[in-house]
Amino acid sequence: MSAQTHVVILAAGQGTRMKSVLPKVLHPIAGRPMIERVLDTARRVQPASISIIVGHAADTVRTRLAGWDGIQFALQAPQLGTAHALQQAEPFLARQSGTVVLLSGDVPLLRTETVRQLLDVHHRAGAAATVMTAIVDRPYGYGRIVRTRGRLARIVEERDATPAERKIKEINAGIYAFDLGPLFDALRGIATQNAQGEYYLTDLIAIYHRRKLTVETMVADNPVEIRGINSRTELAEVSRLVRQNKNEELMAAGVTIVDPATTYIDPEVQVGPDTVIHPGVVLEGSTRIGSMCEIQAHVRIADSELGDRVKVNNFCLLNGARVAAGASIGPFAHLRPETSLGENVRIGNFVELKKTSVGAGSKVNHLAYLGDAEVGADVNVGAGTITCNYDGREKRRTVIQDGAFIGSDSQLIAPVTVGKGAYVGAGSSITNDVPPGALGIARGRQVNVEGWAERRKAPAEKA
Ligand code: UD1
Ligand code: CA
Repeated sequence: MSAQTHVVILAAGQGTRMKSVLPKVLHPIAGRPMIERVLDTARRVQPASISIIVGHAADTVRTRLAGWDGIQFALQAPQLGTAHALQQAEPFLARQSGTVVLLSGDVPLLRTETVRQLLDVHHRAGAAATVMTAIVDRPYGYGRIVRTRGRLARIVEERDATPAERKIKEINAGIYAFDLGPLFDALRGIATQNAQGEYYLTDLIAIYHRRKLTVETMVADNPVEIRGINSRTELAEVSRLVRQNKNEELMAAGVTIVDPATTYIDPEVQVGPDTVIHPGVVLEGSTRIGSMCEIQAHVRIADSELGDRVKVNNFCLLNGARVAAGASIGPFAHLRPETSLGENVRIGNFVELKKTSVGAGSKVNHLAYLGDAEVGADVNVGAGTITCNYDGREKRRTVIQDGAFIGSDSQLIAPVTVGKGAYVGAGSSITNDVPPGALGIARGRQVNVEGWAERRKAPAEKA
């Protein structure tokens, strides 16, 4: 047995105040469930183990976190309070010695450095418990830190506090370091004499005092980090802080964000310098954008990759697309997954592309749908062109080779190939391959009936 650090994350509560079927810790912040942020922080501490206490909707939480290796789950059923929650980790930790860092699944902004600071204070003081606290302007809802002669005397919850105690601005962050030695035995001493009838972890302080065990506190430098999420309002506030950080990071790196208040960029997104992002833009997931791009107002880009000097005009949606340098898209274009555009491609208004590659310099400028298509370089796809890729059973491919010209309002009924440099006459329904250099035309031949309009008039009108 070596003296190691273990992490326990509390995530069994229902989050009643969220009024949601989704467990609180799975509510996303900037695209990721809040508990994953806590897990990121935990991982970087490099602990000997990470245990997550689940309870309410336990299976949903477990399933959502299935991709995380090396975490163990303990079930808390029913959920009788934070002390009872920590007790569920006993089977994992009873034979261990060292330190437990207790994190809360609903405190997602906490940084690893701050956890390290907590451990530092804890070890230096040789404490049995160290409580992370913060001084905040609006302490409402948090447990208050009651001190006598400067030392932590007890923690009182909002509901159990006297009016005088409610005025205290130092709050319990809900983050602790515990020496494993006395912990589980002491937890058994906690009762439920409080407003909620729960086993409060905060009551451990009084027990430690009685047992003459050292309890230390560490005041977090940045109170923002310890913001807990109990309601949708707090979810929105914390999300705004995350967004603000990301926008500031990008601006510092040379990206122009015209209106940071309305720009939503997920933390993992990358944007190159001298790119300009207009109001109302949403950049999500693994999106990477090059430098000197312009993303016009009200564009949403998810999990896509854009080269340098790409222009995305207003009101476009790109999802899972790859766009090479110098391309121009929209306004009002929809690029669906597995779309890839070569250099300097132009995609115009009301064009939808799905599982389609478009070669360098090609143009699809107006009102087209291309699905399951392979379009070569320097192709011109006329207005209203549609690849009929679905026969009701299977998706089939359309190939348009380099330099071809597809006349407006044509349907290419897949599987079909239009050869290199070939033309398709406007308004054609192409069912057979068009050989390279040929003109494919497939539409009713025009007939002009001379004098027809005059003959059509009624005898009375003719007069
Ligand atoms: C708790 C603290 C409070 C502190 C605040 C900081 C207690 C009694 N109160 O209050 O002093 O200021 O956090 O954010 O500890 N949980 C379980 N099982 C349970 C109950 C809760 O796993 O039976 C989990 C929740 O899922 C949550 C965390 O513990 O992740 C905190 O519970 P919550 O009910 O939000 O406690 P607070 O009222 O915020
Ligand atoms: Ca909470």
